[in-house]
Amino acid sequence: MAVFRITRWRLMSLIFGIKCCFLMVTLGVLVINSFTTQNIQSTLSSSLEFQEVSECCSCMEKWIGYQCNCYFISKEEMSWRESRDFCASQNSSLLQLQTRNELSFMNSSQTFFWIGVHYSEERNAWLWENGSILSKDLFPEFSNIRGEQCIVYSPSNTVSSDSCEYKNRYICKQLSI
Ligand SMILES: *[C@@H]1O[C@H](CO)[C@@H](O)[C@H](O)[C@H]1NC(C)=O
Ligand SMILES: *[C@@H]1O[C@H](CO)[C@@H](O)[C@H](O)[C@H]1NC(C)=O
Ligand SMILES: *[C@@H]1O[C@H](CO)[C@@H](O)[C@H](O)[C@H]1NC(C)=O
Repeated sequence: MAVFRITRWRLMSLIFGIKCCFLMVTLGVLVINSFTTQNIQSTLSSSLEFQEVSECCSCMEKWIGYQCNCYFISKEEMSWRESRDFCASQNSSLLQLQTRNELSFMNSSQTFFWIGVHYSEERNAWLWENGSILSKDLFPEFSNIRGEQCIVYSPSNTVSSDSCEYKNRYICKQLSI
């Protein structure tokens, strides 16, 4: 009788022990799983951030990203000064072209847009907004004898000048960060 009781007790504690082990293993698996998931998630999000930066697609809504620059192509027409002020309010400036075909992504649009060049009678020269003189290499077609004029540019690679008071569409370019 006593032997039977002891065996039964042993059996029960054995079963209890097995259950315990099973629970420990389950817990272990759960903990390991949650760590792995976290790691994967943080790897994913950091690679996404990296992509955004490296592909330069972090332009504001309604802006066009092209070759690591963000452009705002206006639909409305404003005077040159109003256009300049709008761009400034968007932490950008009127377009400063680096090369004549910088806007090739605009499919040779024939529309003229204000860019960041105006004529200074005081200095008798075409000036960028930063005060530096427009290089003759970029726009060889401009002479230095003009009144109150500002430059319009069309992506089909034509430049002209207009009275700064005229209303034209305009292009802002975000200053690189
Ligand atoms: C311009 O930059 C300032 C300072 O960094 C920021 O507070 C503001 O929201 C920006 N404006 C726009 C339109 O992005
Ligand atoms: C002024 O802007 C023009 C056009 O982006 C640039 O070519 C020139 O180097 C700038 N000059 C200075 C002094 O920053
Ligand atoms: C240029 O043309 C392509 C293909 O026709 C079009 O997807 C794209 O939106 C156009 N770009 C602009 C700035 O109009």
